[in-house]
This record gives sequence, structure tokens and C-alpha cells, in this order.
Amino acid sequence: MKDDLRWHEVAKTSDLSPVEVMYVEVGNDPVALINLEGEYFALNDMCTHQDASLSDGEVIGDEIECPMHGGAFEIRTGLPANFPVVVPVETYAVKTVGDTVLVAKRPD
Ligand code: FES
Repeated sequence: MKDDLRWHEVAKTSDLSPVEVMYVEVGNDPVALINLEGEYFALNDMCTHQDASLSDGEVIGDEIECPMHGGAFEIRTGLPANFPVVVPVETYAVKTVGDTVLVAKRPD
């Protein structure tokens, strides 16, 4: 299927064990790439509460907990899941081709 997204190769599937998060870059964007039991998701790495890196956080269930104040986001949607986070975090499109994980910024 053809799409107009600009895909970036960011990792190999073997780089991430299930329920693991790693820091990658998509263009100029810092991104937290998450393996959620074999499904891959990507969120902007910067917490929307303050200046903390979500890739330093912890995957708990289907949420990622920020390392700074314990706020959390839903991994699938980027929606706030726990106070003090109240603003959604940007999500990115993710696909795998063979053993390569590709991430793309969504159109505005
Ligand atoms: Fe992430 Fe405060 S910086 S919850």
C-alpha cells in the first residue's frame, strides 16, 4: 500500500525486547519507540508536563510512566493517563518491514 509519509528507519526489531522503550530520532524529533508485547508505537520523547525524556520512563501495562513526576500517557493514543500530565503527547506512525522498524511523522 502506498502512502505519502516520510518513513525513517530507526531500529531493528531485535533492538527492543517486549515491554521496552528506546530513544530514537525521526528527522529532528526526539522519539520514544516502544515495543508493547510485539506491537511498536512511537511517541514524542518530550513529556508534555515538563522537561523529561519518556524514553527514560517505564512501560507499565499499556501506559508509559514519565521518570520525572510519575505522570503517564496511553502508549496507543498519546493521551494523558495519569496526573500531572494533562496534555496529550504527539504520536507517530510506525511500521515494520522485515526486521526493520520505521517511524514517520503524521501529517498535521
Ligand atoms: Fe513528565 Fe512531570 S515531567 S510528569
